[in-house]
Amino acid sequence: MRADPARPGTVEPGTVRSGPGSSPDGDTVLRLAVEQFTVHAESFGSSPVMNDAGALDALVELCALQPGDRVLDVACGPGIVSCRLAEAEPTVTVVGVDATPAMVTLAEARAAEGGVGDRVTFRAGRMEQLPFADAGFDVVVSRYALHHAADPAAVAAELARVAGPAGRVVVFDFDAGEHPVAAQAYDEAERFRDPSHVRNLTAAAQRTLFDAVGLRLDASCAHRLPADLDTVLSLSHGTDHGRVRSAFEASIGGHGLGVGAHRVGDGIAFAYPICGSRFVGPDGRPD
Ligand SMILES: C[S@@+](CC[C@H](N)C(=O)[O-])C[C@H]1O[C@@H](n2cnc3c(N)ncnc32)[C@H](O)[C@@H]1O
Repeated sequence: MRADPARPGTVEPGTVRSGPGSSPDGDTVLRLAVEQFTVHAESFGSSPVMNDAGALDALVELCALQPGDRVLDVACGPGIVSCRLAEAEPTVTVVGVDATPAMVTLAEARAAEGGVGDRVTFRAGRMEQLPFADAGFDVVVSRYALHHAADPAAVAAELARVAGPAGRVVVFDFDAGEHPVAAQAYDEAERFRDPSHVRNLTAAAQRTLFDAVGLRLDASCAHRLPADLDTVLSLSHGTDHGRVRSAFEASIGGHGLGVGAHRVGDGIAFAYPICGSRFVGPDGRPD
């Protein structure tokens, strides 16, 4: 699927450039993601988990925006990050890109309502083939999206390409942690909730991806994003909530899923381990 530059609100069918042996199939994952995020665009946009101020503050700090920066928000969803960055530094311009047209529509409304619509624009496109020229941005940011990539190496290459040798790339995503059994159990449970989830990577694996495309780690942060199971289940559709609930219940009191699930009243609370990384290209200056 490729973004059509002449029709910024659409994406057209095509192929994902998956690497050799990559699995699962990128087109299937993308179709599942667009299905999920079309149905849940609005609830995602208003979710307290996705609007968590602590996580957004940590991301803003990591971006280290400079006056006049041109920012690209990849897989921007409903524009939460795009708008927050524009509010944080009033001289930057932000472009958000997402494969789900419903998300692009919501993001545009959010920017207009937030009074930043003159500096924040959105278009449809996929993160494996970004519809932008090389080195077109000073800062390329992507939050909670790498785990949806069938071929994360292709995404890393695209983020590096559009940032160029002097740009910065900021990635903020779930950290698979150091217990592979728990990470695999989490991925399996998460796919029952959201079939477009591919896999969480460890912080080290995320960094290896960007190292391979010529970027070097400049700064990092760790964050725990508080969530509760009922809220998270309300952000998924057509999936097996019972299997997810069972996996979380079974994990209580042990390593389980690696998210510290515990009971609070009738519900289950937990925290997503998040890792944030800022990379710079060969001509980029450290902060
Ligand atoms: C978990 S949401 C994160 C949204 C946003 N980055 C945020 O943090 O609020 C994942 C987003 O990735 C988008 N997405 C999934 N696969 C994509 C792909 N291959 N290319 C572009 N966007 C994609 C979905 O449409 C969805 O909006």
